[in-house]
Amino acid sequence: MTYQEALEKLAPAGQEHLLKYYGELDEEEKESLLAQIEALDLSLLSLVRDGAKENEKGKLAPLGAVTLEEIAAGRDAYEEKGLQAVRAGKVGAVLLAGGQGTRLGLDKPKGMLNVGINRELYLFEQLIHNLMEVVEQAGEWIPLFIMTSEKNDGDTTRFFREKQYFGYNPDYIYFFVQDMAPSVGYDGRIFMEGKARLAVSPNGNGGWFSSMARAGLLDRIHEMGVEWLNVFAVDNVLQKIADPVFVGATLSAGCVCGAKVVAKANPEERVGVLCLEDGRPSIVEYYEMTDEIIHSRDAEGRLLYNYGVILNYLFEVRTLEKIMDERMPVHVVEKKIPYLDDNGQLVKPEKPNGYKFEELVLDMIHMMDNCLSYEVERDKEFAPIKNRTGVDSLESARKLMKDNGIEL
Ligand code: UTP
Repeated sequence: MTYQEALEKLAPAGQEHLLKYYGELDEEEKESLLAQIEALDLSLLSLVRDGAKENEKGKLAPLGAVTLEEIAAGRDAYEEKGLQAVRAGKVGAVLLAGGQGTRLGLDKPKGMLNVGINRELYLFEQLIHNLMEVVEQAGEWIPLFIMTSEKNDGDTTRFFREKQYFGYNPDYIYFFVQDMAPSVGYDGRIFMEGKARLAVSPNGNGGWFSSMARAGLLDRIHEMGVEWLNVFAVDNVLQKIADPVFVGATLSAGCVCGAKVVAKANPEERVGVLCLEDGRPSIVEYYEMTDEIIHSRDAEGRLLYNYGVILNYLFEVRTLEKIMDERMPVHVVEKKIPYLDDNGQLVKPEKPNGYKFEELVLDMIHMMDNCLSYEVERDKEFAPIKNRTGVDSLESARKLMKDNGIEL
Protein backbone atom coordinates (compact mmCIF):
# COMPACT_ATOMS: atom_id res chain seq x y z
CA MET A 1 0.00 0.00 0.00
CA THR A 2 1.29 3.48 -0.84
CA TYR A 3 1.03 6.58 1.34
CA GLN A 4 -1.71 7.92 -0.94
CA GLU A 5 -3.70 4.68 -0.73
CA ALA A 6 -3.37 4.70 3.06
CA LEU A 7 -4.67 8.25 3.17
CA GLU A 8 -7.60 7.32 0.96
CA LYS A 9 -8.48 4.43 3.25
CA LEU A 10 -8.18 6.45 6.45
CA ALA A 11 -9.63 9.85 5.54
CA PRO A 12 -13.29 8.84 5.09
CA ALA A 13 -13.13 7.20 8.54
CA GLY A 14 -11.52 10.26 10.17
CA GLN A 15 -8.31 8.34 10.95
CA GLU A 16 -5.71 10.38 9.01
CA HIS A 17 -3.90 11.12 12.27
CA LEU A 18 -2.32 7.65 11.97
CA LEU A 19 -0.08 9.14 9.28
CA LYS A 20 0.89 12.18 11.37
CA TYR A 21 4.49 11.07 11.91
CA TYR A 22 4.96 9.44 8.49
CA GLY A 23 7.44 12.12 7.37
CA GLU A 24 9.70 11.42 10.39
CA LEU A 25 9.97 7.66 9.79
CA ASP A 26 12.76 5.73 8.08
CA GLU A 27 11.94 3.50 5.10
CA GLU A 28 11.46 0.33 7.13
CA GLU A 29 9.14 2.05 9.59
CA LYS A 30 7.14 3.60 6.77
CA GLU A 31 6.64 0.21 5.21
CA SER A 32 5.63 -1.32 8.52
CA LEU A 33 3.11 1.45 9.27
CA LEU A 34 1.54 1.16 5.80
CA ALA A 35 1.26 -2.62 6.22
CA GLN A 36 -0.54 -2.13 9.55
CA ILE A 37 -2.92 0.35 7.94
CA GLU A 38 -3.56 -2.02 5.05
CA ALA A 39 -4.48 -4.82 7.48
CA LEU A 40 -6.72 -2.57 9.55
CA ASP A 41 -10.39 -3.58 9.82
CA LEU A 42 -12.13 -0.21 9.88
CA SER A 43 -15.59 -1.80 10.07
CA LEU A 44 -14.97 -2.30 13.80
CA LEU A 45 -15.18 1.45 14.31
CA SER A 46 -18.91 1.50 13.61
CA LEU A 47 -19.38 -0.48 16.83
CA VAL A 48 -18.08 2.50 18.81
CA ARG A 49 -19.94 5.06 16.72
CA ASP A 50 -23.21 3.25 17.33
CA GLY A 51 -22.85 3.52 21.08
CA ALA A 52 -20.74 0.49 22.08
CA LYS A 53 -23.84 -1.53 22.95
CA GLU A 54 -23.78 -5.24 23.69
CA ASN A 55 -25.61 -7.48 21.27
CA GLU A 56 -29.28 -8.03 22.13
CA LYS A 57 -30.19 -11.45 23.55
CA GLY A 58 -33.01 -13.65 22.22
CA LYS A 59 -35.57 -15.61 24.23
CA LEU A 60 -33.94 -17.46 27.12
CA ALA A 61 -34.86 -20.87 28.53
CA PRO A 62 -33.08 -23.06 31.10
CA LEU A 63 -30.71 -25.84 30.07
CA GLY A 64 -30.24 -28.66 32.57
CA ALA A 65 -26.77 -30.00 33.32
CA VAL A 66 -25.59 -33.55 33.87
CA THR A 67 -25.18 -33.21 37.60
CA LEU A 68 -22.41 -34.40 39.88
CA GLU A 69 -24.64 -37.30 41.05
CA GLU A 70 -25.38 -38.41 37.49
CA ILE A 71 -21.72 -38.19 36.56
CA ALA A 72 -20.72 -40.21 39.61
CA ALA A 73 -23.22 -42.92 38.62
CA GLY A 74 -21.92 -43.14 35.03
CA ARG A 75 -18.30 -42.38 35.83
CA ASP A 76 -16.62 -45.69 34.96
CA ALA A 77 -18.31 -45.99 31.58
CA TYR A 78 -17.67 -42.34 30.70
CA GLU A 79 -14.04 -42.60 31.74
CA GLU A 80 -13.46 -45.71 29.66
CA LYS A 81 -15.04 -44.11 26.60
CA GLY A 82 -13.01 -40.93 27.09
CA LEU A 83 -9.76 -42.86 27.57
CA GLN A 84 -10.40 -44.83 24.40
CA ALA A 85 -10.74 -41.54 22.50
CA VAL A 86 -7.53 -40.18 24.06
CA ARG A 87 -5.64 -43.39 23.30
CA ALA A 88 -6.83 -43.23 19.71
CA GLY A 89 -5.32 -39.73 19.46
CA LYS A 90 -8.74 -38.15 18.94
CA VAL A 91 -8.44 -35.55 21.70
CA GLY A 92 -6.28 -32.42 21.63
CA ALA A 93 -6.00 -29.61 24.15
CA VAL A 94 -5.89 -25.87 23.42
CA LEU A 95 -4.41 -23.52 25.98
CA LEU A 96 -5.62 -19.94 25.54
CA ALA A 97 -2.64 -17.89 26.64
CA GLY A 98 -2.89 -14.82 24.41
CA GLY A 99 -4.49 -12.55 27.02
CA GLN A 100 -2.75 -9.64 28.66
CA GLY A 101 -3.82 -10.33 32.24
CA THR A 102 -4.28 -6.63 32.89
CA ARG A 103 -6.14 -7.18 36.16
CA LEU A 104 -3.24 -9.14 37.57
CA GLY A 105 -0.85 -6.46 36.35
CA LEU A 106 2.05 -8.77 35.55
CA ASP A 107 4.78 -7.60 33.15
CA LYS A 108 5.10 -11.04 31.59
CA PRO A 109 2.74 -13.76 30.31
CA LYS A 110 0.25 -14.82 32.97
CA GLY A 111 1.36 -18.45 32.71
CA MET A 112 4.79 -17.39 34.01
CA LEU A 113 3.24 -16.40 37.33
CA ASN A 114 4.87 -18.28 40.19
CA VAL A 115 2.03 -19.61 42.34
CA GLY A 116 4.42 -21.42 44.68
CA ILE A 117 5.30 -20.18 48.16
CA ASN A 118 8.17 -22.36 49.35
CA ARG A 119 9.02 -23.64 45.90
CA GLU A 120 8.72 -22.45 42.34
CA LEU A 121 5.49 -23.55 40.73
CA TYR A 122 4.44 -21.71 37.62
CA LEU A 123 0.92 -21.56 36.28
CA PHE A 124 2.06 -23.16 33.02
CA GLU A 125 3.80 -25.86 35.02
CA GLN A 126 0.71 -26.74 37.03
CA LEU A 127 -1.41 -26.91 33.87
CA ILE A 128 1.11 -29.24 32.24
CA HIS A 129 1.05 -31.31 35.41
CA ASN A 130 -2.76 -31.53 35.22
CA LEU A 131 -2.59 -32.67 31.59
CA MET A 132 0.18 -35.17 32.37
CA GLU A 133 -2.19 -36.97 34.73
CA VAL A 134 -4.35 -37.93 31.77
CA VAL A 135 -1.32 -38.71 29.59
CA GLU A 136 -0.12 -41.13 32.24
CA GLN A 137 -3.54 -42.67 32.72
CA ALA A 138 -4.00 -43.13 28.96
CA GLY A 139 -0.40 -44.04 28.20
CA GLU A 140 -0.51 -41.69 25.21
CA TRP A 141 0.67 -38.11 24.57
CA ILE A 142 -2.05 -35.56 23.96
CA PRO A 143 -1.35 -32.81 21.39
CA LEU A 144 -1.27 -29.48 23.18
CA PHE A 145 -1.84 -26.31 21.14
CA ILE A 146 -0.84 -23.09 22.87
CA MET A 147 -2.23 -19.79 21.67
CA THR A 148 -0.05 -16.75 22.33
CA SER A 149 -0.25 -13.19 21.02
CA GLU A 150 2.29 -10.97 19.27
CA LYS A 151 2.83 -9.36 22.67
CA ASN A 152 3.81 -12.49 24.59
CA ASP A 153 4.83 -15.13 22.05
CA GLY A 154 8.58 -14.65 22.46
CA ASP A 155 8.48 -14.74 26.26
CA THR A 156 6.13 -17.73 26.33
CA THR A 157 7.99 -19.94 23.89
CA ARG A 158 11.35 -19.03 25.48
CA PHE A 159 10.02 -19.90 28.93
CA PHE A 160 8.75 -23.31 27.82
CA ARG A 161 12.10 -24.04 26.16
CA GLU A 162 14.09 -22.94 29.23
CA LYS A 163 11.95 -25.10 31.49
CA GLN A 164 12.16 -28.02 29.08
CA TYR A 165 8.43 -27.99 28.61
CA PHE A 166 8.00 -29.02 32.24
CA GLY A 167 8.55 -32.63 31.22
CA TYR A 168 5.98 -32.63 28.42
CA ASN A 169 7.00 -34.13 25.08
CA PRO A 170 7.80 -31.08 22.88
CA ASP A 171 6.87 -33.06 19.76
CA TYR A 172 3.27 -32.74 20.94
CA ILE A 173 3.33 -29.02 21.68
CA TYR A 174 2.31 -26.52 18.97
CA PHE A 175 2.42 -22.78 19.52
CA PHE A 176 0.38 -20.42 17.39
CA VAL A 177 -0.15 -16.67 17.49
CA GLN A 178 -3.58 -15.06 17.62
CA ASP A 179 -4.76 -11.99 15.71
CA MET A 180 -4.70 -8.43 16.96
CA ALA A 181 -7.29 -5.64 16.79
CA PRO A 182 -6.86 -1.85 17.04
CA SER A 183 -7.64 0.05 20.23
CA VAL A 184 -9.58 3.30 20.06
CA GLY A 185 -10.31 6.28 22.28
CA TYR A 186 -13.85 7.11 23.38
CA ASP A 187 -14.09 9.38 20.33
CA GLY A 188 -13.47 6.42 18.01
CA ARG A 189 -9.99 7.58 16.94
CA ILE A 190 -7.51 4.73 16.74
CA PHE A 191 -4.64 5.14 19.20
CA MET A 192 -0.97 4.94 18.25
CA GLU A 193 1.55 3.41 20.62
CA GLY A 194 4.59 4.53 18.65
CA LYS A 195 5.17 6.84 15.72
CA ALA A 196 5.18 3.86 13.38
CA ARG A 197 2.90 1.61 15.43
CA LEU A 198 -0.86 1.54 15.84
CA ALA A 199 -2.05 0.58 19.32
CA VAL A 200 -3.28 -2.98 18.93
CA SER A 201 -4.17 -5.69 21.41
CA PRO A 202 -5.07 -9.38 21.19
CA ASN A 203 -8.54 -9.64 19.64
CA GLY A 204 -10.06 -11.81 22.39
CA ASN A 205 -10.07 -15.56 22.86
CA GLY A 206 -12.88 -16.19 20.33
CA GLY A 207 -10.68 -16.30 17.28
CA TRP A 208 -8.62 -19.25 18.49
CA PHE A 209 -9.80 -21.75 15.89
CA SER A 210 -9.41 -19.47 12.89
CA SER A 211 -5.97 -18.42 14.17
CA MET A 212 -5.06 -22.11 14.44
CA ALA A 213 -6.24 -22.63 10.89
CA ARG A 214 -4.25 -19.64 9.62
CA ALA A 215 -1.18 -21.05 11.35
CA GLY A 216 -1.59 -24.19 9.21
CA LEU A 217 -2.45 -26.41 12.16
CA LEU A 218 -5.63 -27.90 10.71
CA ASP A 219 -3.52 -30.09 8.44
CA ARG A 220 -1.64 -31.37 11.50
CA ILE A 221 -4.92 -31.97 13.30
CA HIS A 222 -6.23 -34.05 10.41
CA GLU A 223 -2.97 -35.97 10.00
CA MET A 224 -3.02 -36.84 13.69
CA GLY A 225 -6.71 -37.75 13.60
CA VAL A 226 -7.71 -35.26 16.29
CA GLU A 227 -11.51 -35.04 16.38
CA TRP A 228 -12.08 -33.12 19.62
CA LEU A 229 -10.44 -30.05 21.09
CA ASN A 230 -10.59 -29.17 24.77
CA VAL A 231 -10.16 -25.42 25.07
CA PHE A 232 -9.15 -23.99 28.42
CA ALA A 233 -7.95 -20.79 30.07
CA VAL A 234 -4.44 -20.18 31.32
CA ASP A 235 -5.52 -19.05 34.75
CA ASN A 236 -7.63 -21.82 36.26
CA VAL A 237 -4.92 -23.68 38.05
CA LEU A 238 -7.09 -26.56 39.28
CA GLN A 239 -8.80 -27.53 36.06
CA LYS A 240 -8.65 -30.97 34.56
CA ILE A 241 -7.60 -30.94 30.94
CA ALA A 242 -8.65 -33.53 28.37
CA ASP A 243 -10.58 -35.04 31.27
CA PRO A 244 -11.60 -38.50 30.06
CA VAL A 245 -14.84 -38.48 32.07
CA PHE A 246 -15.91 -35.18 30.47
CA VAL A 247 -14.91 -36.42 27.01
CA GLY A 248 -16.76 -39.71 27.54
CA ALA A 249 -19.90 -37.95 28.82
CA THR A 250 -19.98 -35.58 25.83
CA LEU A 251 -19.49 -38.45 23.37
CA SER A 252 -22.15 -40.55 25.11
CA ALA A 253 -24.62 -37.66 24.98
CA GLY A 254 -24.04 -37.40 21.21
CA CYS A 255 -23.33 -33.70 21.55
CA VAL A 256 -21.06 -31.63 19.31
CA CYS A 257 -19.73 -29.74 22.27
CA GLY A 258 -19.53 -29.81 26.04
CA ALA A 259 -18.98 -27.14 28.66
CA LYS A 260 -17.77 -27.62 32.20
CA VAL A 261 -19.98 -25.68 34.58
CA VAL A 262 -20.25 -25.09 38.33
CA ALA A 263 -23.42 -24.51 40.35
CA LYS A 264 -23.64 -20.82 41.18
CA ALA A 265 -22.50 -19.79 44.66
CA ASN A 266 -25.61 -17.56 44.86
CA PRO A 267 -28.20 -16.38 42.33
CA GLU A 268 -26.45 -13.03 41.86
CA GLU A 269 -22.98 -14.49 41.20
CA ARG A 270 -21.39 -12.65 38.27
CA VAL A 271 -20.77 -15.55 35.94
CA GLY A 272 -21.85 -16.41 32.44
CA VAL A 273 -24.69 -18.92 32.65
CA LEU A 274 -25.12 -21.74 30.15
CA CYS A 275 -28.76 -21.85 29.02
CA LEU A 276 -30.81 -21.86 25.83
CA GLU A 277 -31.32 -18.75 23.71
CA ASP A 278 -33.90 -19.07 20.95
CA GLY A 279 -33.61 -22.82 21.36
CA ARG A 280 -29.83 -23.00 20.94
CA PRO A 281 -27.20 -23.29 23.66
CA SER A 282 -25.88 -19.95 24.76
CA ILE A 283 -23.86 -18.32 27.50
CA VAL A 284 -25.57 -15.32 28.97
CA GLU A 285 -23.84 -12.88 31.30
CA TYR A 286 -25.46 -11.92 34.60
CA TYR A 287 -26.01 -8.35 33.38
CA GLU A 288 -27.92 -9.61 30.36
CA MET A 289 -30.53 -11.35 32.55
CA THR A 290 -33.52 -9.81 34.26
CA ASP A 291 -33.91 -10.24 38.03
CA GLU A 292 -36.88 -12.47 37.35
CA ILE A 293 -34.79 -14.84 35.24
CA ILE A 294 -31.90 -14.81 37.69
CA HIS A 295 -34.18 -15.84 40.57
CA SER A 296 -36.53 -18.24 38.77
CA ARG A 297 -36.73 -21.71 40.31
CA ASP A 298 -38.23 -25.11 39.45
CA ALA A 299 -40.95 -26.90 41.48
CA GLU A 300 -38.29 -28.30 43.84
CA GLY A 301 -36.90 -24.83 44.51
CA ARG A 302 -33.72 -25.26 42.42
CA LEU A 303 -32.46 -22.30 40.44
CA LEU A 304 -33.35 -22.73 36.77
CA TYR A 305 -30.34 -20.72 35.56
CA ASN A 306 -27.87 -22.25 37.93
CA TYR A 307 -24.79 -23.27 36.00
CA GLY A 308 -21.91 -20.91 35.36
CA VAL A 309 -19.17 -21.63 32.83
CA ILE A 310 -15.50 -21.91 33.80
CA LEU A 311 -13.93 -21.57 30.33
CA ASN A 312 -13.30 -25.24 29.77
CA TYR A 313 -15.05 -26.46 26.62
CA LEU A 314 -14.87 -29.50 24.38
CA PHE A 315 -15.58 -28.90 20.69
CA GLU A 316 -15.94 -31.32 17.80
CA VAL A 317 -13.40 -30.35 15.14
CA ARG A 318 -15.77 -31.13 12.25
CA THR A 319 -18.32 -28.68 13.62
CA LEU A 320 -15.68 -26.02 14.25
CA GLU A 321 -14.66 -26.26 10.62
CA LYS A 322 -18.25 -25.74 9.51
CA ILE A 323 -18.69 -22.54 11.50
CA MET A 324 -15.17 -21.22 11.00
CA ASP A 325 -16.09 -18.58 8.45
CA GLU A 326 -19.19 -17.34 10.25
CA ARG A 327 -18.76 -13.89 11.75
CA MET A 328 -18.68 -13.84 15.51
CA PRO A 329 -20.08 -10.98 17.58
CA VAL A 330 -17.47 -8.39 18.51
CA HIS A 331 -17.51 -7.08 22.07
CA VAL A 332 -16.42 -3.54 22.79
CA VAL A 333 -14.55 -3.54 26.09
CA GLU A 334 -13.41 -0.52 28.09
CA LYS A 335 -9.73 -0.73 29.02
CA LYS A 336 -6.65 1.28 30.00
CA ILE A 337 -4.74 1.75 26.74
CA PRO A 338 -1.27 3.29 26.51
CA TYR A 339 -1.17 5.88 23.69
CA LEU A 340 0.88 8.67 22.09
CA ASP A 341 -0.46 12.09 23.05
CA ASP A 342 -0.57 15.12 20.76
CA ASN A 343 3.10 15.82 21.54
CA GLY A 344 4.17 12.31 20.59
CA GLN A 345 4.74 11.25 24.21
CA LEU A 346 3.64 7.79 25.40
CA VAL A 347 0.99 8.05 28.13
CA LYS A 348 0.08 5.11 30.37
CA PRO A 349 -3.37 5.96 31.71
CA GLU A 350 -4.45 5.17 35.28
CA LYS A 351 -8.11 4.81 34.32
CA PRO A 352 -9.82 3.29 31.29
CA ASN A 353 -9.49 5.67 28.36
CA GLY A 354 -10.95 3.79 25.43
CA TYR A 355 -12.06 0.52 23.91
CA LYS A 356 -10.61 -2.74 22.71
CA PHE A 357 -12.47 -5.10 20.39
CA GLU A 358 -12.77 -8.74 21.39
CA GLU A 359 -14.36 -11.91 20.10
CA LEU A 360 -15.11 -14.41 22.85
CA VAL A 361 -14.97 -18.19 22.87
CA LEU A 362 -18.25 -18.25 24.81
CA ASP A 363 -20.05 -16.94 21.71
CA MET A 364 -19.03 -20.10 19.88
CA ILE A 365 -21.41 -22.05 22.08
CA HIS A 366 -24.38 -20.32 20.46
CA MET A 367 -23.10 -21.44 17.06
CA MET A 368 -23.40 -25.09 18.15
CA ASP A 369 -26.59 -27.14 17.66
CA ASN A 370 -26.26 -28.59 21.14
CA CYS A 371 -23.96 -28.54 24.13
CA LEU A 372 -23.60 -30.85 27.10
CA SER A 373 -23.65 -28.85 30.31
CA TYR A 374 -21.34 -30.87 32.55
CA GLU A 375 -21.21 -30.07 36.26
CA VAL A 376 -17.91 -30.13 38.15
CA GLU A 377 -17.12 -29.47 41.78
CA ARG A 378 -16.18 -25.85 42.19
CA ASP A 379 -13.70 -26.45 45.03
CA LYS A 380 -11.89 -29.13 43.06
CA GLU A 381 -11.81 -27.69 39.56
CA PHE A 382 -12.24 -23.94 39.67
CA ALA A 383 -9.48 -21.70 40.97
CA PRO A 384 -9.10 -18.86 38.47
CA ILE A 385 -6.42 -16.24 39.04
CA LYS A 386 -7.70 -12.93 37.72
CA ASN A 387 -6.63 -10.54 40.50
CA ARG A 388 -3.86 -10.27 43.09
CA THR A 389 -6.15 -10.49 46.12
CA GLY A 390 -9.83 -11.04 46.88
CA VAL A 391 -12.23 -12.94 44.62
CA ASP A 392 -10.63 -15.12 41.92
CA SER A 393 -7.14 -14.16 42.97
CA LEU A 394 -3.71 -15.60 43.52
CA GLU A 395 -4.63 -15.65 47.21
CA SER A 396 -7.90 -17.58 46.78
CA ALA A 397 -6.33 -19.98 44.25
CA ARG A 398 -3.45 -20.77 46.60
CA LYS A 399 -5.92 -21.66 49.33
CA LEU A 400 -7.86 -23.95 47.00
CA MET A 401 -4.64 -25.56 45.77
CA LYS A 402 -3.61 -26.33 49.34
CA ASP A 403 -7.09 -27.72 50.08
CA ASN A 404 -6.54 -30.07 47.17
CA GLY A 405 -3.24 -31.29 48.52
CA ILE A 406 -0.96 -29.34 46.17
CA GLU A 407 2.24 -28.40 47.95
CA LEU A 408 3.16 -24.79 47.53
P1 UTP B 1 -9.55 -13.08 30.40
O1 UTP B 1 -10.86 -12.70 29.84
O2 UTP B 1 -9.48 -13.32 31.85
O3 UTP B 1 -8.49 -11.97 29.97
O4 UTP B 1 -9.01 -14.32 29.60
P2 UTP B 1 -6.97 -11.76 30.38
O5 UTP B 1 -6.36 -11.02 29.24
O6 UTP B 1 -6.29 -13.03 30.79
O7 UTP B 1 -7.05 -10.85 31.67
P3 UTP B 1 -7.56 -9.35 31.92
O8 UTP B 1 -9.04 -9.37 31.60
O9 UTP B 1 -6.77 -8.45 31.01
O10 UTP B 1 -7.26 -9.13 33.37
C1 UTP B 1 -9.52 -15.61 29.71
C2 UTP B 1 -8.59 -16.53 28.93
O11 UTP B 1 -8.56 -16.18 27.56
C3 UTP B 1 -7.22 -15.91 27.16
C4 UTP B 1 -6.48 -15.54 28.42
O12 UTP B 1 -5.10 -15.75 28.25
C5 UTP B 1 -7.14 -16.47 29.42
O13 UTP B 1 -6.61 -17.77 29.33
N1 UTP B 1 -7.23 -14.83 26.17
C6 UTP B 1 -7.86 -13.65 26.43
C7 UTP B 1 -6.58 -15.01 24.98
O14 UTP B 1 -5.97 -16.09 24.74
N2 UTP B 1 -6.58 -14.00 24.06
C8 UTP B 1 -7.20 -12.82 24.29
O15 UTP B 1 -7.17 -11.94 23.41
C9 UTP B 1 -7.87 -12.64 25.51
